[in-house]
Amino acid sequence: MPRLKIAGPCRLQGEVSVQGAKNSALPLLAASILCREECILHNCPQLSDVRISTEILRKLGCRVLSERDTICIDAREISSFQIPDDLMREMRSSIIFLGAILGRTGCAVLGFPGGCELGPRPIDLHLEALRKMGASIVEDHGRLLCETPTGLHGAHIALSFPSVGATENVLLAASCAKGTTLLENAAHEPEICDLADFLNSCGANIRGAGGSTIEIEGVEQLGGCEHWVIPDRIAAATFLAAGAATYSTITLRDINPQHLAPIWPVFEEAGCDLTLFRDAAVLVPPKKLHRIKHIRTMPYPGFPTDAQAPLMAMTTQCQGTSMFVENIFESRYKHVGELLRLGAHIRVDGRVAVVEGPSKLSGTTVEAADLRGGAALVVAGLAAFGETIVEEIHHIDRGYEAIERTLGDLGAQIRRLP
Ligand code: UD1
Repeated sequence: MPRLKIAGPCRLQGEVSVQGAKNSALPLLAASILCREECILHNCPQLSDVRISTEILRKLGCRVLSERDTICIDAREISSFQIPDDLMREMRSSIIFLGAILGRTGCAVLGFPGGCELGPRPIDLHLEALRKMGASIVEDHGRLLCETPTGLHGAHIALSFPSVGATENVLLAASCAKGTTLLENAAHEPEICDLADFLNSCGANIRGAGGSTIEIEGVEQLGGCEHWVIPDRIAAATFLAAGAATYSTITLRDINPQHLAPIWPVFEEAGCDLTLFRDAAVLVPPKKLHRIKHIRTMPYPGFPTDAQAPLMAMTTQCQGTSMFVENIFESRYKHVGELLRLGAHIRVDGRVAVVEGPSKLSGTTVEAADLRGGAALVVAGLAAFGETIVEEIHHIDRGYEAIERTLGDLGAQIRRLP
């Protein structure tokens, strides 16, 4: 199994170009199923989750061509409405294909995505919304059998929680449904706006994305379009955390600073000096990082749960006590045990984690348990003295394009071992 070897502590320097957003690329690939003309997606990150999504598209009968960060999808001749179980299991977010397949073919059969490393990952909000739109959904031996006997129709849907995936599934299912769908308590994440922009460019009629209420007027069918995936705000936050934790000045390029609005105040509180440009930012660390009083993960525009772990690795280098409250996922502190092995001082009590810093971290072998937790171990490894080996890095590869190359270009001593 490949591993990452980091010789720390590292001092980073220079510029990093931030990849396109994984969490946008996946729903956009799913959305292409609805289109009757070719779609061209640029700035797609080259990640295992993106590869699995293109495999799913091929299984459904789409023609898919990938070249570097561009993917062309031709979904004119869809021949299947089933996603094989192995692909469903490989990527838990494959549930976002449901709304698109149902919207295009009127039927869908897919494996239940099940629980995952972040704790139970229910899909009740997705299913409830699709049922309101006329879908009949039966759970049968871990599979979801879905059909729309009379086609999908518009509905008034109020989510009990602004779930990102459920909001995406409603946008996908409603784009070509009969009539108008009013979605309340929708997720506000930038990736929702990116999906709505893509669908509108293909001919959909979606208003209000980015706010709590989204109105989708169903259209007969969608055409195609050429679209650029938005920058990955979580990868950006991870590189900022790496810069601060190693007391390095770094420049991020190809970002959207507005999407990072919930992140900047945390780095300012730590004493970092930030200069923001239209699509770039420069982070200059202070002489000593200050503690961060509270980080509470919340739906956007709150602090993103996906940035919690990398930021926690950074706070091991801050002076004093920093506190985290994880409000989105039940089981998102799996990186803590591994950070302790590197010498961090962290206590967890339920949803709260308290970090006492600064700690002199020392390198050892640690294991990534999930994607962002794995990135946290890399951030900590960069700050740690001696050699850190990060194992199970297939988790990291799900969300970061060749992380060793990006950090290596910044001057980190990091190598992928076969
Ligand atoms: C998306 C992101 C993920 C991020 C998360 C929260 C993608 C591919 N993944 O995941 O990286 O961490 O948003 O920002 O975009 N919930 C239910 N019932 C449901 C759906 C969700 O109870 O039907 C709960 C979940 O268990 C969780 C919370 O709602 O506690 C948030 O989940 P959600 O916003 O749906 O996250 P995902 O779309 O799965």
